[in-house]
Amino acid sequence: MQASYILVKKSAELSGTVELVGAKNAVLVIISSLILTKGRSVLENVPNSSDVLHMISLLTDLGGQVEFDTQHNRLIVDTSDISKFDVKPEIMNKMRASILVMGPLLARFGMAKVAFPGGCVLGARPIDYHINGFKKIGVKIEENGCYINSEVDTSDKFKNVRISFEYPSVGATENLMMFAVLKPGQTVIINAALEPEVLDLIEILTKMGAKIDCGPGAIITVTGVDKLNPVKHEIIPDRLEAGTLLIAGAITGGQVTVKNAVPEQMDMFLDKLREMGHEIETGMFQHNGKAVGITINAIKNPQGIRIKTGPYPAYPTDLQAPTMAMLCLTNGTSYVEETVFENRFMHIPELQKMGSQISVKGNTATIRGVDELYGTKLIATDIRASCALVIAGLAATGSTEVTGIQHWRRGYDKLEYKLNLLGGNIEIFD
Ligand code: UD1
Repeated sequence: MQASYILVKKSAELSGTVELVGAKNAVLVIISSLILTKGRSVLENVPNSSDVLHMISLLTDLGGQVEFDTQHNRLIVDTSDISKFDVKPEIMNKMRASILVMGPLLARFGMAKVAFPGGCVLGARPIDYHINGFKKIGVKIEENGCYINSEVDTSDKFKNVRISFEYPSVGATENLMMFAVLKPGQTVIINAALEPEVLDLIEILTKMGAKIDCGPGAIITVTGVDKLNPVKHEIIPDRLEAGTLLIAGAITGGQVTVKNAVPEQMDMFLDKLREMGHEIETGMFQHNGKAVGITINAIKNPQGIRIKTGPYPAYPTDLQAPTMAMLCLTNGTSYVEETVFENRFMHIPELQKMGSQISVKGNTATIRGVDELYGTKLIATDIRASCALVIAGLAATGSTEVTGIQHWRRGYDKLEYKLNLLGGNIEIFD
């Protein structure tokens, strides 16, 4: 039997207007945050990706009732009957974001039993910031084989606590914050991650009734409350999907408008596109009183650039792989330094098979622009690598076949459909 694959054929200049669905990295944690409430919440703009389906099965396994209207991207979750605080290893293993149930379960039950999480293989990806953070703010933790057993210490010594992260981890910030919202006293998180997706979590928690203050110096102060209420919330548009669509416009020399993209969440990325020579227009539309929308009018002969990934507002690591695909076809030399994940260059051997000129030293890739990439058979090994290879395929001669389609499905909802609407030539064979 032939493996499933994505077939991408060289496409004309992409052109037209598309809209984004909700951010994968916001929706997963937000679904988990509903465990903090008892009752029926409604989430709008929820992507129909396999990671979301995994999160739904996790919640259902705990006793939640979930209805997913995939046509309208609406998720209705009733958490009244959640009665379990242990998550099966086969569910935890499916994705790293499953660890994000630990904070809400501890807050609701005072206990949690979860297995070590799975997900994309991007280096070691430890969870020590989560574990050490929980210990510092009053959780007793015991690692038992593949399980983490945890229980809240309710003694007064943990009433007001300060925790500083050595690195602003997105997941650890979210997990600890979700525990702290129902914990008596004040929890201060220093050097917190402030990605737009973390801010979306803060927004929904605040709507639920949580008291969270975000101050200068990346300090989040949470004052615990007794109870949180179910809510209605619209997930923010996916800035990573926006970046991908704009890169697809750039690599094919087209003109693409992403109608609901929020320009203020993408400054560094947009500046780099401008530095390459592309014309960028922002804020042509209105949504909830805010100017939104981004258009790229790509030039034919873009220049090489230098990028360095880092925590927000630096260049997003999740756009590094598709960016590299685009840089393969520029004038001159580009440099890509990956500082977030040590193993996030797995797309490079695949791009090399297409005729790109990339060399790697430590965590920096040097890309010498070539005139052409050639379609061939490729293997995607993680979500963003799958995206990079599809993007490269749009501009490569002939046909590109990408296996590892499960990674594409984990991160994106109908992205191939949107790229085809713009003039792309992508087919999925399942
Ligand atoms: C989230 C995103 C992911 C994105 C990443 C960085 C979700 C579901 N995923 O992942 O798409 O690429 O942010 O923007 O939101 N680290 C530790 N110990 C820990 C936790 C993290 O050493 O306990 C390290 C990681 O290995 C990595 C770095 O810190 O090198 C950043 O990780 P983190 O910000 O936690 O990323 P995730 O929350 O896993």
